[in-house]
Amino acid sequence: MRAEHWRAYLDCVGELLATPQVQAMKDIRHHPGVSCFEHSLFVSYVAFRLAGRWGADSRAAARAGLLHDLYLYDPRSLPSYKQCFAHPVAAARNAAALCGGLSAQEENGILAHMWPLAPRAPRSRVAAAVCLADKVCATAEVLGIWRRLELYRTACAPAAPSVEIW
Ligand SMILES: [Fe+2]
Ligand SMILES: [Fe+2]
Repeated sequence: MRAEHWRAYLDCVGELLATPQVQAMKDIRHHPGVSCFEHSLFVSYVAFRLAGRWGADSRAAARAGLLHDLYLYDPRSLPSYKQCFAHPVAAARNAAALCGGLSAQEENGILAHMWPLAPRAPRSRVAAAVCLADKVCATAEVLGIWRRLELYRTACAPAAPSVEIW
């Protein structure tokens, strides 16, 4: 991970990262051993880089990626089949309230991130970047790769050992 990529990424989401709503995701367990904040940061950075490579709006991808799981409730409070459909809607509602509105690409990126498990499909490269990043990052988290990445050391645990991505 190059320093200039990280700085460009922070230019897009630095203010959002500091908000109480985004910080509150640190207290929500998303995958085993991975908080909702860690997962969202991971998805946000990967979507930011994918969108940049695809010539899409990387700022919108970074923002939608960071907010795609801003559901802000205990996911164990719902059966998993209901959580699959309900949490993107809650995240989009909370994200719109936090930002004072969302662009169409950002909103669709949040609402469609569970595709194809959920029927709402990505309609832009921004939304496709968030959807693909969500799958890639969730897989890496379940396989235990997340805590070995440089992104984790840079953003979440500065003392941890790491391996480089992109
Ligand atoms: Fe999600
Ligand atoms: Fe997610």
